[in-house]
Amino acid sequence: MIVNPEIEKYLEIFRCERDLVQIEMEKKAEKEKFPIIGPDVGNLLYLLARISKAGSVLELGSGYGYSAYFFAKALPEDGEIICTDMEEGNKILAEKNFLKGGFKCSLEYIVGDALIIGRQLNRDFDIVYNDIDKEYYPETIEIANSRLKRGGMFITDNTLWGGKVMSKSIHDEPTLGVIEFNNKLKNDNRFEISMLPFRDGVTIAVKK
Ligand SMILES: C[S@@+](CC[C@H](N)C(=O)[O-])C[C@H]1O[C@@H](n2cnc3c(N)ncnc32)[C@H](O)[C@@H]1O
Repeated sequence: MIVNPEIEKYLEIFRCERDLVQIEMEKKAEKEKFPIIGPDVGNLLYLLARISKAGSVLELGSGYGYSAYFFAKALPEDGEIICTDMEEGNKILAEKNFLKGGFKCSLEYIVGDALIIGRQLNRDFDIVYNDIDKEYYPETIEIANSRLKRGGMFITDNTLWGGKVMSKSIHDEPTLGVIEFNNKLKNDNRFEISMLPFRDGVTIAVKK
């Protein structure tokens, strides 16, 4: 997206292996123009979960389960993932995909507003992954802080938003949401952050 197309092409050579279920989800996303994280960020999520030995993940905005599928591959058998999405139809598709994946870890999918669900859940997670509609991004910081264990990771996709975050003339709500999120998180001393200029921008924040 924001990476030089030549570099994108070179990176393809090193792309992680995916199973048939993942390839099907990628094809569906391409055909229907549904925004999934794609294999490179998916693999990053997988590795971050492995490196941190995460046992629990809360996803804000799960779609039909593509990103959760990478986490599911990384989690131990007693691991737990809670997916959230507004759309009942996405839950049905995601559950079919998870079934095909044959995972041992628990995968629960809650339909509703991730901001409300995130506030209501009465437990802590190792990772909170954020990929909801961008105008709601600023509100996810409090949710991440309240739902993460100390040392837990708050991972957010699309934080460079196609480069629009730098524009002085773009004032649509999603862009303003991402700009506000980036500024708020930078100034939030409860987190240490790193913004990766990877694909559309991925921010990793660790709760102190
Ligand atoms: C970018 S897609 C998620 C893709 C998914 N993370 C993946 O990579 O496979 C965003 C999803 O968030 C959902 N969504 C947007 N705002 C939401 C909200 N406030 N609460 C719950 N779901 C939301 C949309 O229905 C959509 O399915």
